[in-house]
Amino acid sequence: MTEIIKNKIVSGMRPTGKLHLGHYFGVLKNWINLQKEYESYFFIADWHALTTKYNQTEDMKENIENVLLDWLASGINPEISTIYLQSLVPETAQLHIYLSMITPQNWVERDPTLKDLAKIMKDKHENISNLSYGLFGYPVLMSADIMLFNSNFVPVGIDQVAHVELTRDIARRFNNIYKIELFNEPQPKLTKTSLLKGLDGNKMGKSFNNDIKISDSPETTEQKIKTGITDRNRIKKNDKGNPQNCEVIYDYWKIFGSNNEQIEICTDCQSAKMGCAECKKKLARKINEYMAPIRDKRKELEKQPDYLRNIIYEGSKKAQIKAKETIIKVENAIRMYK
Ligand code: TRP
Ligand code: SF4
Repeated sequence: MTEIIKNKIVSGMRPTGKLHLGHYFGVLKNWINLQKEYESYFFIADWHALTTKYNQTEDMKENIENVLLDWLASGINPEISTIYLQSLVPETAQLHIYLSMITPQNWVERDPTLKDLAKIMKDKHENISNLSYGLFGYPVLMSADIMLFNSNFVPVGIDQVAHVELTRDIARRFNNIYKIELFNEPQPKLTKTSLLKGLDGNKMGKSFNNDIKISDSPETTEQKIKTGITDRNRIKKNDKGNPQNCEVIYDYWKIFGSNNEQIEICTDCQSAKMGCAECKKKLARKINEYMAPIRDKRKELEKQPDYLRNIIYEGSKKAQIKAKETIIKVENAIRMYK
């Protein structure tokens, strides 16, 4: 029987805590579709978290569990995708060290995210030398994550494309130096930027306090929606509104409402038949309906810590089998002592 060879994807997320609807619509929904078509590796990037949070590790374990819960509840399927924890696949570190040897320092220094970080630190009057060696190496660590499975595609947001390009350069350099066609040159698979803004109109993010979590209760969701920006010109209830100028709330309707509902909201807003408070109440109900199955599933999973642990350990074992194959090939190519 001929085996169908699927293209491979790998993507990771730092364990920063509970995920929000921006993650769900921006990243997870995409992964959930891709996993049907690609051999997929999704990992929790705990080593990446350490590059900046090395001295704030108290909640690492909890954060990892929360990310896993959000993934599973959203529909990342451990039966078809390999879900693993980066530090439980230490071959990542092995590959990282080999790649670090062949990566010119100025390739890493060009990295735009590191430049941004350095600028933020400078603005905060922090000494740039406070950026750790590990943080500087993080683009190479990410290349190791990707090359460990010889992935063909990397689903990432636009901010991460430079890292995938660096990975291509490193892969090509490896093949050239050791005269072997071992690594593919992986391509970024662009995720549409999240459709969902934060409640204040800025990018949704947990540090801005403008997010709705996947795991928020219906009540919390409703409270948060009340703070969402509407049409700023609509002050009183009998002012006529304009959904086109309704910065956040109508944007959410476009995602959560059917076409008919959107038309109805528009008409009732424009004619001032409905006030913003009522509109928000309806929207909250809609979001809660949409999220209910995911939230229910999450609650179920929360009660099964052994099952969750098992997913992480089994997934990591599965990833390790593939990772070990890569390390053997890499060490042979470099002619390490065997
Ligand atoms: N650097 C990514 C981020 O900060 C996370 C990440 C680490 C990643 N390794 C990866 C994403 C490999 C895709 C592939 O969002
Ligand atoms: Fe926005 Fe709804 Fe208020 Fe219209 S009624 S301005 S759509 S919140």
